[in-house]
Amino acid sequence: MRFAAFLFAAGLAAQQPPAPLPTSPADLEQGGKLYRGSCGYCHGPQGDGGKGADLAKPKLERASSDEQLVNVIKNGIPGTEMPGAWHMIDNEIRQVAAFVRTLGKVEARPVPGDPANGKQVYASAGCAACHALREQGRLTGSLAGPELTVIGSRRNAAHLREALLDPAASVPDGYLIVTAVPLAGTAVTGLRLSEDTFTLALRDFSGRNHAFLKSSLKDIRKDPRKSSMPSYRGKLTATQLQDLIAYLASLKEPS
Ligand code: HEC
Ligand code: HEC
Repeated sequence: MRFAAFLFAAGLAAQQPPAPLPTSPADLEQGGKLYRGSCGYCHGPQGDGGKGADLAKPKLERASSDEQLVNVIKNGIPGTEMPGAWHMIDNEIRQVAAFVRTLGKVEARPVPGDPANGKQVYASAGCAACHALREQGRLTGSLAGPELTVIGSRRNAAHLREALLDPAASVPDGYLIVTAVPLAGTAVTGLRLSEDTFTLALRDFSGRNHAFLKSSLKDIRKDPRKSSMPSYRGKLTATQLQDLIAYLASLKEPS
């Protein structure tokens, strides 16, 4: 009898659809407060992105269902700058998730400019010397900087503009420039690939990887504010810049 009751209860639990996100004005207001406190500085006050992804759109790649959304907020996205909200209780996470859904109801603002011309600017400005793009399944360019295949899904137009005009202001986490000074030989500067107690690996700006035992180094200099990306301020006309931003913004995950 008790066994039957257990089976019955287990069956109920398995069938129960996930609880819907809260919709009351009080929950949304609380969700908005939590959002502004914990998410807005990356995703923008209106959710239109910045350092974080654009959330002000009807469909989120990593969070198309409400349960996925709750999971992304709770656990973050490993391997990216998106942190888990370990400091929130489940109910708060659901309130934030509900608020994020309201951001998606905003019409996406089109980015002005001509993406086709922007693609030419990308080619003629030599961006491929440091960045890679996957086109028709093939990765072309260099991996000295971040891959830009879906940059338009990850960054908004304002961040892209800043990355081009003032790269040092928007160095993504993980792109730390380090200089390794060996006991003997010449110093090597590049992007840090990995570091632990005993080793340091970096990629220099020609794209070559270097691995060092720390015991063989005299000094390690780190410059979180320094960017290896040149500023394009004054090197592109206003039209070229706008078209380039329109092109980068168009590089999105297929929906
Ligand atoms: C330190 C910056 C940062 C903070 C803080 C942050 N995020 Fe993110 N978030 C990101 C980045 C970067 C991505 C894109 C990751 C990727 O796909 O490369 C992202 C992705 C997401 C996605 C997936 C978007 C999609 O299109 O699938 C959601 C949803 C999200 N964040 C919600 C939140 C919420 C809600 C909060 C606050 C609780 C938050 N984020 C806090 C940086 C941040
Ligand atoms: C000498 C190498 C180099 C060149 C040339 C270069 N970049 Fe970069 N770029 C980088 C590096 C390295 C980063 C990573 C962050 C940093 O250091 O600013 C970066 C960052 C970026 C970002 C920000 C990425 C993000 O996730 O936020 C964008 C966008 C970008 N570059 C676009 C371009 C475009 C477009 C061009 C050509 C007009 C270009 N870059 C030329 C090295 C370069």
